[in-house]
Amino acid sequence: MVRSKVIAIDGPAAAGKSTIAQKVAEMLGYVYIDTGAMYRAVTLKALNQNIDVQDEEKIEKMLEDTTIRLTNDKKVYLDDVDVTEAIRQPIVSQNVSAVSAHKVVRDELKRRQIEYAKTANVVMDGRDIGTNVLPDADYKIFMTASVEVRAERRYKENIKRNIPCDLESLKQEIQTRDELDSTRKHSPLLKAEDAIEVDTSYMTIEEVINTIINIAKGGENNEAV
Ligand code: CDP
Ligand code: CDP
Repeated sequence: MVRSKVIAIDGPAAAGKSTIAQKVAEMLGYVYIDTGAMYRAVTLKALNQNIDVQDEEKIEKMLEDTTIRLTNDKKVYLDDVDVTEAIRQPIVSQNVSAVSAHKVVRDELKRRQIEYAKTANVVMDGRDIGTNVLPDADYKIFMTASVEVRAERRYKENIKRNIPCDLESLKQEIQTRDELDSTRKHSPLLKAEDAIEVDTSYMTIEEVINTIINIAKGGENNEAV
């Protein structure tokens, strides 16, 4: 059997991973898997059930009967309910790093992510795809941008979506989340040794897409862009 192809895109919050991953997947005919959405869905469910986000045992139990479905039209279903918008609420962003630090959560979502990758060629984005979930990925990208640029981008996006926010708190939230994600014990946010770093601070969306497509087509590897 021919192994399916994997493009792994990791990096800190709001670097442009999902925007670029979606487009690249569309252009190559791959399936896009937003692993952050899976961690956000688990967090939303814990919050809805008033489970303390530090309570690993209760979250483990909760996961036993939790289904998460990502559809081709970019919707996210949690136990068959559309939570596409709900998982982007600030309260979820503020708690997701605590939930995703638990080993039981990471192990279970990793298992599901590996299953997804068996079924199709995928572009998968997250924090630990190239280092931990699919270390044999065909292409690994580590996407970054300065925290100022990332906060500004998220701010504009929230305004468009009518999510109330202010720039300074967003910057704080992004920094706190990056710090928690990078320093946790289990599969922290980290650039894989063989990942290509793409700093998108001064790049348009089109430029980033072209860069990734070139990497995927040309087999460019092991150098910063
Ligand atoms: O889109 P944004 O950058 O805000 O974050 P996301 O990709 O939706 O991920 C939300 C959170 O999920 C991250 O801050 C991590 O705590 C967690 N996450 C993770 O631990 N591992 C992944 N592979 C993906 C996300
Ligand atoms: O998935 P991640 O959190 O890394 O970032 P995103 O949600 O894809 O991107 C955050 C915002 O930045 C979106 O509104 C994108 O349209 C925008 N963006 C940008 O302005 N320029 C780029 N080169 C990449 C993303």
